[in-house]
Amino acid sequence: MADITESSEWSALAEHHTTLAGTHLRELFSADAGRAERMAVDAGDLHLDYSKHRATDETIRLLVALAGRAGLRERIDAMFAGEHINVSEDRAVLHTALRLPRDARLNVDGQDVVADVHAVLDKMADFAGRVRSGEWTGFTGKPIRTVVNIGIGGSDLGPAMAYEALSDYADAGITARFVSNVDPADISGTLRDLDPEQTLFIVASKTFGTLETLTNAKVARAWLVNALGDEKAVSRHFVAVSTNAERVAGFGIDTGNMFGFWDWVGGRYSFDGAIGLALMIAIGADRFREMLAGFHAIDEHFRTAPFERNMPVLMGLLGIWYNDFFGAQTRAVLPYSQRLARFPAYLQQLTMESNGKSVRADGAPVVAQTGEIFWGEPGTNGQHAFYQLLHQGTRLVPADFIGFAEPFEDHAADDAGMHDLLTANLLAQTSALAFGKTAEEIAAEGTRAEIVSHKVMPGNRPTNTILVPKLTPATLGQLVALYEHIVFVEGVIWGIDSFDQWGVELGKVMAMDLAPALTSPEPPADAPDPSTAALVRRYRRLRG
Ligand code: F6P
Repeated sequence: MADITESSEWSALAEHHTTLAGTHLRELFSADAGRAERMAVDAGDLHLDYSKHRATDETIRLLVALAGRAGLRERIDAMFAGEHINVSEDRAVLHTALRLPRDARLNVDGQDVVADVHAVLDKMADFAGRVRSGEWTGFTGKPIRTVVNIGIGGSDLGPAMAYEALSDYADAGITARFVSNVDPADISGTLRDLDPEQTLFIVASKTFGTLETLTNAKVARAWLVNALGDEKAVSRHFVAVSTNAERVAGFGIDTGNMFGFWDWVGGRYSFDGAIGLALMIAIGADRFREMLAGFHAIDEHFRTAPFERNMPVLMGLLGIWYNDFFGAQTRAVLPYSQRLARFPAYLQQLTMESNGKSVRADGAPVVAQTGEIFWGEPGTNGQHAFYQLLHQGTRLVPADFIGFAEPFEDHAADDAGMHDLLTANLLAQTSALAFGKTAEEIAAEGTRAEIVSHKVMPGNRPTNTILVPKLTPATLGQLVALYEHIVFVEGVIWGIDSFDQWGVELGKVMAMDLAPALTSPEPPADAPDPSTAALVRRYRRLRG
């Protein structure tokens, strides 16, 4: 398999970059009156304005040709059909099946996965309904008031992000908390003010073999049994979400209270299935299903829309444009919604665990730079922290701005509602990033000549603006599906397997090897390496 960088389509983009790199967005807009109208696309309820990109129609044409060369259409079809596109683990990649409607049909490896998916959703809905209504009680007969999700990575970030995003829809008086870190401070802080009689633990782990999760779960179980004085309490206060029934049973959780999923769902793609149980308990099964319908709307758009009008394809290809041709290393994601505070962290796992690879699917080294570094904070907080660098720094940081037309709730402040102020900030930032402010404009304001250069805003900094009617379960599903498919598009162009994560394994094994060294009578002389051994010895001295 030839590397994509050797293709004529890649060379054409490299050539095009040399002509466009010196062109300012101010010039692109003044030469093209219809640009803002034309360079926009809708998918589901999402509206994307991509006119503030250092790109022309020709750029899009060349990027779409690159996608054709990489076989993007065939890869999309292969994913949706359940082919084993996760080659290093020989698995299908079917998170899209988690949101297929009940009457759809999809047979994978001889199994009707839609029936399986809906059987689990129905079991979740039944359980969530019983917890919400108070029919499911704790060991002492009291209703559940707090659900604690114990999981990490994909078994934490997705449900934690979505619970916060949709907290306005939590209507049953049940709150959720999320414990992930093996740092004892995490579980201590979470349990400190909880009533054991009214707390339900969801142990969420695809493998049910993850150190952090099992350790936290054991601590939680001991806390519960100690408080309620009876081992039998565990079955009323612990349920599991996993693909591994044997290990769930081994831990002491009744597999009747286990919610399953399948090896064709990657952890970072899983909160729209059973891993979303805490979310479903908080917002209810109907809202959860609205979220799934939102995911599905974008799946259908991605599967069927022509690439030139396909939102995930355009955003993925523009990511390639900056990452591989402009040398940008990161992408900022800036939601203008406090409720989406965890969205950048969620996207970090989704994008970086998926595309942080340096070999292609066939095992050959990649030539292009892969793996955009995602980061971000909600606006307007970020504006008062790191936007200085975005506006005037020497690095190019493409950014995705996400805004909502309707707040869940608003307050009046002087003449403007708070939400309008928030949106005005979003719009001002993208405009300032694109068009900046010239030395002439600054001097014309009477600025002292010595400081004019300090105040120059270079502009020419590219952004996407995603405008959404309102943050709802459906639009959250749409946003997440959008980024899932952006990851897919980029992975296909780079020719990598976006669905494995071998790079996290070595550290896990070494931690297990090192743990005994922290307490054994003989500290290591130079294992696993002299620097680490010296740190072990110092740690032991500090621990006393
Ligand atoms: O260590 C990485 C990882 O395997 C993630 O991919 C996954 O989401 C996380 O650990 C948790 O795994 P599990 O759900 O099996 O506990």
